[in-house]
Amino acid sequence: MSASGSARRLGLPGSDGIMGAAILESPTMPRGVLPPSRGAVGDGGGVRTSNSSRRSHEGQFGDLAAVDICCGLGGLSEGLGMAGFDVRLGIDNSPSAALTYQRNHPNALVALQDLSQLRKFRSYLSAVGIAPYKLAVLAGGTPCQSFSGANTKKRPGRNEHHNLVLEFARLVKEAYPALFVLENVPRMASVENGELLSDFLHLVERAGYEVKVKNLLAADFGVPQTRRRLFVVGSRIGPFEFMAPTHGPDSYSGKRFVTVQDAIVGDLPTAVRREDATGPMSYIGPPANWYQRWCRVGSREVTDHFWNNLGEGPLRRFALIPPGKSWVQIQDAGLAPAELEVTIDHRSVYRRLEEDKPAVTIVNVRKAMTIHPKVDRLITLREAARLQSFRDRFSFSRAGGRILQVDQIQQQLANAVPPLLARAVGRRLRARLEH
Ligand SMILES: C[S@@+](CC[C@H](N)C(=O)[O-])C[C@H]1O[C@@H](n2cnc3c(N)ncnc32)[C@H](O)[C@@H]1O
Repeated sequence: MSASGSARRLGLPGSDGIMGAAILESPTMPRGVLPPSRGAVGDGGGVRTSNSSRRSHEGQFGDLAAVDICCGLGGLSEGLGMAGFDVRLGIDNSPSAALTYQRNHPNALVALQDLSQLRKFRSYLSAVGIAPYKLAVLAGGTPCQSFSGANTKKRPGRNEHHNLVLEFARLVKEAYPALFVLENVPRMASVENGELLSDFLHLVERAGYEVKVKNLLAADFGVPQTRRRLFVVGSRIGPFEFMAPTHGPDSYSGKRFVTVQDAIVGDLPTAVRREDATGPMSYIGPPANWYQRWCRVGSREVTDHFWNNLGEGPLRRFALIPPGKSWVQIQDAGLAPAELEVTIDHRSVYRRLEEDKPAVTIVNVRKAMTIHPKVDRLITLREAARLQSFRDRFSFSRAGGRILQVDQIQQQLANAVPPLLARAVGRRLRARLEH
């Protein structure tokens, strides 16, 4: 996200009048990109953001332009923005994700586009003022839902999500950025018995990139969560090295991990049921630690701090689950009343967070039934966002003041790269560009 720059916002029908994504179509323009009459497209010099805070660097990537493929609601873009990159374009095929992305990245253009149908990528770059071969970073996180351990299928039966990884390689070749970063679940390294990753590496190495692959733990970089993600970074401007942890036992600083308590206990008001949520709420006191202070930058009040009301059965189960345990353990220990027992399909859900540790990976809160460490309820959207290291000012798409499509937002939040993890990678990319 660009820290400044002239807003290039475009209305998206169906929203509350907030400015949304560019979703215009023209026969001569790639879908989702502004037509010339709106002043955004043209000869490569067309749109420039007037960005006074952008660092002026020597060299050809001085404006730190970045593009985010499969941007979702924008976790990766948030982090790259905090690292100083000017993310000018996000591409995703989900209208709901695009709305939240645009809401929080008003200086970027978001294109609603199926990646597998994306052609003439350079005209997209030109539309946001990126001249040929001047893109500093091409970033992306293709969908990972199909990367189950059981999926060992090889070509030619490659499924859609596997193909999108290779589409990303095609875009790398076409845009020829100084650096690229592809993020995914660690399992990506082993799908198709490793052939998908090796095919990807083959394509980008042949295009001239030196590549490093690393499985990173979000908690190592100040995120209150033990999420692991695979990062594949390619460079055509000299070798890239991943960063060392800044938090936890493996860090030089000796800073401890940020815990669930650090993130969500202390300054947030009592959460309300979704149907009772009327608007922003006040913080109940000053931030209790650096993490809460950090989350509150740019925000004076708390939004989206509500929980899904689930009825009596789930609430009775919640009451029986101690911190760090899940329902399956209660049931297997014979502690569950017969009428509350769940079927095999539901055994992996219902888990209560532990206060004094980083959270487990935040997946879709409603589907996974992620329970607050102290209160018998699901965690709220705001709490999930904090545990993912989104600042409180990050807000979700809404209409008439009410949040839209909560279930989809819960999923997009679960899909996101934690911004603090993305910031750590982004700072490293930047260091590579500056040396
Ligand atoms: C893992 S999520 C990306 C998360 C994002 N990097 C973040 O940090 O918030 C994958 C995204 O890919 C999008 N997606 C799935 N299939 C797509 C396709 N064929 N073309 C474009 N986007 C697609 C989904 O809508 C989803 O937002």
